[in-house]
Amino acid sequence: MNHTLCLSTLKTQLLNFKYIVADQTILHLYPKLFSNQIIFPFLALEENKTQESINQLHHHLFNHNVRRHEHILVIGGGITLDMAGFAMATYMRGIPFTSVPTTLMGMVDVSHGGKVGINSAYGKNTIGTFYHPKSTLICQDFLNTLPPHELQNGISEMLKHLIISDQRHFPAPQKLLQYDQILQSIQIKANITQQDPYDHGIRKCLNLGHTLAHAAEMASNHRLSHGQAVAWGLLIEGHILEQKELIMPYTHLLNDYFNKHFQLPALPDLSALWQSMQHDKKNTVDVCISQLSKPYVLGTSMDMWEQAFQKIQ
Ligand SMILES: NC(=O)c1ccc[n+]([C@@H]2O[C@H](COP(=O)([O-])OP(=O)(O)OC[C@H]3O[C@@H](n4cnc5c(N)ncnc54)[C@H](O)[C@@H]3O)[C@@H](O)[C@H]2O)c1
Repeated sequence: MNHTLCLSTLKTQLLNFKYIVADQTILHLYPKLFSNQIIFPFLALEENKTQESINQLHHHLFNHNVRRHEHILVIGGGITLDMAGFAMATYMRGIPFTSVPTTLMGMVDVSHGGKVGINSAYGKNTIGTFYHPKSTLICQDFLNTLPPHELQNGISEMLKHLIISDQRHFPAPQKLLQYDQILQSIQIKANITQQDPYDHGIRKCLNLGHTLAHAAEMASNHRLSHGQAVAWGLLIEGHILEQKELIMPYTHLLNDYFNKHFQLPALPDLSALWQSMQHDKKNTVDVCISQLSKPYVLGTSMDMWEQAFQKIQ
């Protein structure tokens, strides 16, 4: 269940919680939100989204004698929510928690659908489970301090949500940050994940743009942010799907949108991306199809990507 709050109301809500797991940036930027709660501070870096952090958080809870009936509050971006959510799922076989996402990505994507987890030596998000917060408190005020590239990460996911729900009007970034748009985006994700809670079917459409995006992040050594990589993925994978008439066309509109509102850095060479995609996907490179009545994945060839690159870039 989602609730929307302003910062002062959130502060009052936080008084109901004795234990908090908090992104250190939030502790630093919003010290007045917190009072005398017992806080586990977490430095939100991908390299800290690990078993080591889970162990530290579990130790912290055991040391404070936290019982199963306690209710924990987790506040921060996606890294904090993923890590702490997994720690909550496994502490004494599951302890209830409420999430307060503080990034746009956290609000429209991470907090819904129940995926929680950590990275391992075998890759990003390779250890995890499904475990839902009891509720999610949305406070848009946090977006005022979010750096532009973090906003863009969330905006790319919001555009993806619009595309997979067959909408072909893409509001300008400032409009997308308004409450009704955030809520609509949450509803699109929630609708899909409720139909397919364990990721066996239509939920795969949420991967639209991400086959290329993951490869672009890796091949560019993270020169491209996740949001920029997803933006390219939506354009290029979209073109492949359009060529097969598997999707209602949108890439011409999205291309104009990015030209107007974002400066997308150049992609790495296709050969590097193709290698990375094959490695990532264990040799079958799939594109996820957005129209819910159609099959969910399309196997692709290098030729298809080449054509899409020529058309889009
Ligand atoms: N579980 C899911 O369904 C799901 C979905 C998408 C992404 N993810 C995961 O989410 C993570 C990315 O999440 P993210 O984009 O929220 O990044 P993040 O958690 O890394 O936060 C980005 C940065 O912004 C800072 N920050 C957080 N809130 C802030 C605020 N209000 N003002 C200023 N700075 C703030 C953080 O400290 C961090 O430095 C990845 O690990 C990804 O795998 C999970």
